[in-house]
Amino acid sequence: GGIAAGDVDAFLHCLGAAVPPRLVHTLGSPSYDATLVSSIRNLRFVAPGTPRPLAIVEAAEASHAQAAVRCGRRHGVRVRARSGGHDYEGLSYLSLDRRERFAVLDLAALCDVRVDAERAEAWVGSGATLGELYYAVGAASGTLAFPAGVCSTVGVGGHISGGGFGTLMRRYGLAADNVLDAVLVDADGRLLNRTAMGEDLFWAIRGGGGESFGVVLSWKLRLVRVPETVTVFTILRPRNQSATDLITKWQEISPAMPRDIILRVVVQSQHAQFESLFLGPCSRLVRLMRARFPELGMTQSDCEEITWIQSTVYFAFYSSSKPLELLLDRGTEPDRYIKAKSDYVQEPIPSHIWESTWAWLEEPDAGLLILDPYGGEMARVSPAATPFPHRKGNLYNLQYYSFWFEHGAQRLEKHLSWVRGLYEEMEPYVSKNPRTGYVNYRDMDLGRNEIEGNVTSYTKGRVWGEMYFKGNFERLAAVKAMVDPHDFFRNEQSIPPLPAAK
Ligand code: FDA
Repeated sequence: GGIAAGDVDAFLHCLGAAVPPRLVHTLGSPSYDATLVSSIRNLRFVAPGTPRPLAIVEAAEASHAQAAVRCGRRHGVRVRARSGGHDYEGLSYLSLDRRERFAVLDLAALCDVRVDAERAEAWVGSGATLGELYYAVGAASGTLAFPAGVCSTVGVGGHISGGGFGTLMRRYGLAADNVLDAVLVDADGRLLNRTAMGEDLFWAIRGGGGESFGVVLSWKLRLVRVPETVTVFTILRPRNQSATDLITKWQEISPAMPRDIILRVVVQSQHAQFESLFLGPCSRLVRLMRARFPELGMTQSDCEEITWIQSTVYFAFYSSSKPLELLLDRGTEPDRYIKAKSDYVQEPIPSHIWESTWAWLEEPDAGLLILDPYGGEMARVSPAATPFPHRKGNLYNLQYYSFWFEHGAQRLEKHLSWVRGLYEEMEPYVSKNPRTGYVNYRDMDLGRNEIEGNVTSYTKGRVWGEMYFKGNFERLAAVKAMVDPHDFFRNEQSIPPLPAAK
């Protein structure tokens, strides 16, 4: 039936029968704070006054996750899954509604990676980090890889649920494009694999966002082939050395490059940094860059020939000489504040607009811009194949990323208004009707769910939902109505159930 009014004592009592007490941390208990903050990456969400979960349940096995969902359902305590805790708006561990009674189901311990190099497949627990996944794949084979994000501490669970892209996307697509099977706890606490959940739900969990359909405990992945040696380079070009012209040209050439190269750009302060991974030797890369992008002036001396696994360290830590074990480092306490927004660019932005952007980047509170080119495999997959709709026709993803270290409401306001101001100024030059964004770069500015009759409103949700999912939003809502009609799994940007046709 529906969701009962919250009875926390009954919830904890129910959990007590199934989960060892050392894995349940209730608000106010001595272990609570350290457990809560263990994977928080954003200082914005550790501030006093942030609405907190009533309890944190650490799942050490599937039955613990099932118990959290069953007990939560029975006693009116909602469950938010947390894998790597990297959600840009903190929705895996906080609620913007102070009345919400919820518990965090922390999956960090479900981090097994089992690689079958012969079949080029792997099972990975949602609680593993991308670094742990890459490390295990690299240890099993020098010619296998997995296409996913750049930052090694990001959690597999949230990342794959929202799509997941990184340096291999132009060759192999999203992380979510390379999922073969998954094990999920549904709103009734049942454990379902792909066959048992059916193709609609399996479609929804590969890009539709993690919060809406259940808790994915593990994923079966298709590993991809890479050469034993790949080539990377990083080239910095200051504003006064034609960075504006280079970015302007980059917009047209980089999405049209062959699939075995990615050339991304980070624009910060008064320079543009061009970063590349090429699935081949330096000599071929130099020829390719000379033919396609001579203006960049790339030469053999820019090349580093390394293994794919070293390249994951290179992009996460900006050095290929650091030990691979860095990939296993989950990090410590959050040390910075973060606010990000994203756009998709479908027509090259004129060079005079890039020229005027330098003024924004010069400000003392400036953040940075990350330009990730699509095309290649990203453009080949149909926009309906997964919930992630940003395929053909998108030149690149533009991320506005602001981070800072100083405390205080004034600083927060300054940084937020920098990101929002630049985003507003870019409006004429990015995707329209709707202006789109990437769900894994969660942005509460796009909109927030409203509850009507204890269920999330579909018509209100469409406003932010179609920005992330375009035409796939309605199908996601239909799946939601089928698998979680009472809307147990919800947050401020979860998929609402599609109302029955009148
Ligand atoms: P977290 O645990 O916070 O979960 C995110 C959302 O998914 C929450 O709503 C949560 O409830 C839900 N969820 C988590 N686990 C679930 C599970 N097992 N089952 C169901 N729902 C679940 N992205 C990208 O594509 N490429 C990149 O290179 C990067 N780089 C990057 C760097 C940094 C520093 C940050 C902070 C973020 C990124 N991202 C990224 C974005 C990242 O992909 C996104 O934040 C993911 O949702 C993070 O997944 P976590 O498991 O860490 O988040």
